[in-house]
Amino acid sequence: MLSRISLPQPNIEDGSPNPRFHSLDLTIRQNRNRQDALIEVLHRAQEQFGYLEKDVLTYIARELKLPLSRVYGVATFYHLFSIQPKCKHTCSICLGTACYTKGGQALLDILTKELHLKAGERSPNGKVFLRVERCIGNCGVAPAAIYDGHVSRQQSPEDVLAMVKGWMEEP
Ligand code: FES
Repeated sequence: MLSRISLPQPNIEDGSPNPRFHSLDLTIRQNRNRQDALIEVLHRAQEQFGYLEKDVLTYIARELKLPLSRVYGVATFYHLFSIQPKCKHTCSICLGTACYTKGGQALLDILTKELHLKAGERSPNGKVFLRVERCIGNCGVAPAAIYDGHVSRQQSPEDVLAMVKGWMEEP
């Protein structure tokens, strides 16, 4: 049952089952009939695998008998889920209305121009993940950037560039 997908199989050499899939299967069985089964199962999968890669989402869709598009849609809608390996650092730029009108787009643009970072992607060296938020509910600090979960107020393009560049150059 577990050999249908090509995920890392740390225990495959000795023939024992992959405990991460065992735990995921258990969660699927326990939640199959619940309305929020998909969220529960995605949580468990992320706990087990670190992030939700396509093979895991395909497996979940098949086991819960849901369209892959729906599973993928939920996995990408909620920020607590990640479909890529985690980076050491995350920079979020708020592009809600208040931040956008006070220059939020320029924060994003300088990262793309100077560091070739794009929203929703990891940096080429895998150290920084850049994402866009749609209002973090703190519009008085616009334009805001969130560095590793900490909100920084009234950021300039130079501020954001210095912070993210520093991360990228870390050994
Ligand atoms: S729009 Fe950025 S915090 Fe509200």
